[in-house]
Amino acid sequence: MNEELAVNNNCNRTIKHIRFSVTSACNYNCIYCDKEGFIPKTSLLSVDEITRLCTLLATTLNVTKIKLTGGEPLCRKEIVSIVKNISNLHLYKDISMTTNGFFLKEMASDLYNAGLNRINISLCSLKPSVFKKITGVDALELVLKGLKAAQKAGLYPIKLNYVMLKGLNDQELDDIIDFCSKTGYILQLIELHKRSEAIGKELSIFDHHHAPIENIVEDIKARAIETFRRNDMQNRYVFKLPNNAVIETIQTGKEACNKCTKLRVGCDGNLFGCLFRSDLGTNIKSELNDLTPSLKSQEIIQKVISSREPYYK
Ligand code: 5AD
Repeated sequence: MNEELAVNNNCNRTIKHIRFSVTSACNYNCIYCDKEGFIPKTSLLSVDEITRLCTLLATTLNVTKIKLTGGEPLCRKEIVSIVKNISNLHLYKDISMTTNGFFLKEMASDLYNAGLNRINISLCSLKPSVFKKITGVDALELVLKGLKAAQKAGLYPIKLNYVMLKGLNDQELDDIIDFCSKTGYILQLIELHKRSEAIGKELSIFDHHHAPIENIVEDIKARAIETFRRNDMQNRYVFKLPNNAVIETIQTGKEACNKCTKLRVGCDGNLFGCLFRSDLGTNIKSELNDLTPSLKSQEIIQKVISSREPYYK
């Protein structure tokens, strides 16, 4: 079963990691937010259901990497227990989280002690007014404190998600690279992508604020002292600059789709294969009541995996 599932997905894109949303609630209101590509249709998975689904996915697919997302995952009040339960399974070698950083100052060490390995923090600007304009919250200082707390707690590496928005934060790239070279945080330079149709009509944000990052990537490539590509992660580039800043670049498109190895889980239990096609997913929640996995749950996983197809071909 495992072998078959690993090899038999179309385009030979083996699933290597799980992106698991634990809540759709968020205390920010970012203008660019893609809402992880879905709107929950039924109630939240319980903590036990999450733990069972994590067991099922790890044992069925042989995956050892999981990223918890939201909404804002730290808005889920049981988040520390969720991390602890996943860690106690001893099935995942890499447990990470993408967070807006707002609650990290208080929670970083509890999360680390529960078994969280590393963290990605959304940081769209180092200017308080721009930060507020993009996120709707005046929280830059608090997030910077959260970053320090995460570092102190032992979460490593720390990555900063910087989505470039034309006319808002696009003049700050050099400052953010400089900040990363001084702090050792890894920069994820992300090109804005459109929102999935599954979450409603496209806002005009993309038309107003999208800027291609292709030329910037070429420029960084020319200056890099080391370059490699994350073959298992959409073939993303990782560059090291002479000032020691490490920059990973993230774009959507054919290349990324062809090397996509992610399976997504919505907070309601919808399993889906693509950020832009949660409508092709199947909800697995009703199969998570029993301790022993049902045949139906295996079938659902199989079906979702084999229906994956590249969005950009
Ligand atoms: N384009 C690119 N990245 C996005 N993210 C959210 N919305 C978008 C979008 N429209 C990414 C950001 C954020 C993470 C949760 O999702 O990197 O940090």
